[in-house]
Amino acid sequence: MQPWLWGARTTFRARPGEPMYLDPEDEEILAGEKGETRQRMMELLVALGKVFGAERLVGIKSAQVSGASYKTIGEYGLAWLSSLDARAVVPAVLNPIGMPRGRWKELGIDPEFAANQEAVIAAYERLGVKLECTCTPYYLRKTSFGDHLAWSESSAVSYANSVIGARTNREGGPGALAAALIGKTPCYGLHLERNRKPHLIIEVTSDEKDWSIARYGALGYHAGKLVGNKIPYFRGITPDSDQLKALGAAMAATGAVALYHVDNVTPEAKNTGYDLSGLEVVSVESAEIDRLFTKIPVDAVAIGCPHCSPAELHGIAGLLEGKSVIRPLYVFAAQGIIDKNLKTVRSIERSGARVFADTCMVVSPVMERYPAIMVNSGKALAYVPDMCGAIARIGSIEECVEVATSQSS
Ligand code: F3S
Repeated sequence: MQPWLWGARTTFRARPGEPMYLDPEDEEILAGEKGETRQRMMELLVALGKVFGAERLVGIKSAQVSGASYKTIGEYGLAWLSSLDARAVVPAVLNPIGMPRGRWKELGIDPEFAANQEAVIAAYERLGVKLECTCTPYYLRKTSFGDHLAWSESSAVSYANSVIGARTNREGGPGALAAALIGKTPCYGLHLERNRKPHLIIEVTSDEKDWSIARYGALGYHAGKLVGNKIPYFRGITPDSDQLKALGAAMAATGAVALYHVDNVTPEAKNTGYDLSGLEVVSVESAEIDRLFTKIPVDAVAIGCPHCSPAELHGIAGLLEGKSVIRPLYVFAAQGIIDKNLKTVRSIERSGARVFADTCMVVSPVMERYPAIMVNSGKALAYVPDMCGAIARIGSIEECVEVATSQSS
C-alpha cells in the first residue's frame, strides 16, 4: 500500500482499481461536519478528481478565481455565489471583471450592469476572496518554484507553470473557488512532475537581435496555432520576464498551452535536463512573425494584456513624457501595482492616457466602441476581433505610443 493511503477511511474510485485518498480532515468536510458550503465544495473537488483520475488532493498556496464578471456568470451565477457560506483558507484573488471598480462611470458603463457587477464582487468578498481582479496575481504575492496553485486565467496559469515553475492546471471558476475555500485541489495534470515534460521543440530562427514584448507576443500567437495543447520547448530565443509573459499569454490564446519551456531561460529547462532526443522539431522563421505586424489605421490603442508589470508602466511613462495623446490610449494593470507606482501612473495620465485596474481591453465593453484597435499583445491580437468586434493591429509599446500621440496612425 502507498504511504499516502494509510489511514484512509473512504475510498473513491478515481479510475477502476485506483483509489483516491482523502485524509481525515477531508473526510470530515465531506461528511458535512465543517458546514454545508465546504461539504459542497469538497464534493466538487472529489468529483473533479474522479473525472481527471487524481489519486489525492494537494494543498495549494493560492487561488485565482475566474467567473467574476457579471457579463459571464449572469443572475444564476450571482445567485449561486450568494448561496455559499464559507471563507477562503488560502490567499485568493479574482480574474479581471467588466469594469474598473470606482471608475466605471468614466468608461460609460451601464449603471444596471455596474450594480450587478458590484453584487458579484460583494459576494466574493463575503467568501474571503481579495478584491484584486487581475490576470497577474504573481506580481501581488510571492509565488515560488514548486508551489501548488489553483489558478484560472490562462496567461496566469502559463506564467505560473512556465516562468515560475509553480504547478497549476487551468481551473474553471467553481473549481478554483472550491480550492480556495478548502485549501486543496485534485492532484493531476500539471501538478505531477511526469506530465511536465516537453512534447516538441520549436526552433526559432531570426536575424532580429532586439525582440520587443510584442514580437514575443506575435511568436506566441503563431506558435499556439502550431502546438495546440502540447508542451513546447523553445530554442533560439532569450526572452526576459515580460517577454515570457507575452509569449505564454498568446500561446494560451491561439492554442491551449498551459506550460512551455525555453532553453536556458525557464527554470525547469535550466534545471531538469530534459531528454529532447526524438522530439519533433518545428521551425519558426522571422518572416512568419513579421507578417503579423500590419500598418492598418486604428481608432484607439490598448496596452496591458496581460496586465502591465511595473517595468512596463515605467517604460510607457518614459515614452509619453512631454507628449499628449490624440487617440485614446488605455493601459491596464493590477490595482496593487498601480498603488505601488502612483507617480508613474500619474505621469502616464498627464498625457491624457488612462490607466485602469480590475478590468482589461478584452473583458471591458469599453473597447467595443472602436472599429480598429492597436495592441502590443499577441493574446489581444487573437481575442479583440471576437470579443470586441474590432480589427486588431499589433505593434511594440514604442509603436503604440507613437500611434496614440501622432497624427499618422
Ligand atoms: Fe489579462 Fe484580459 Fe489579457 S484577462 S491576459 S488582460 S484578455
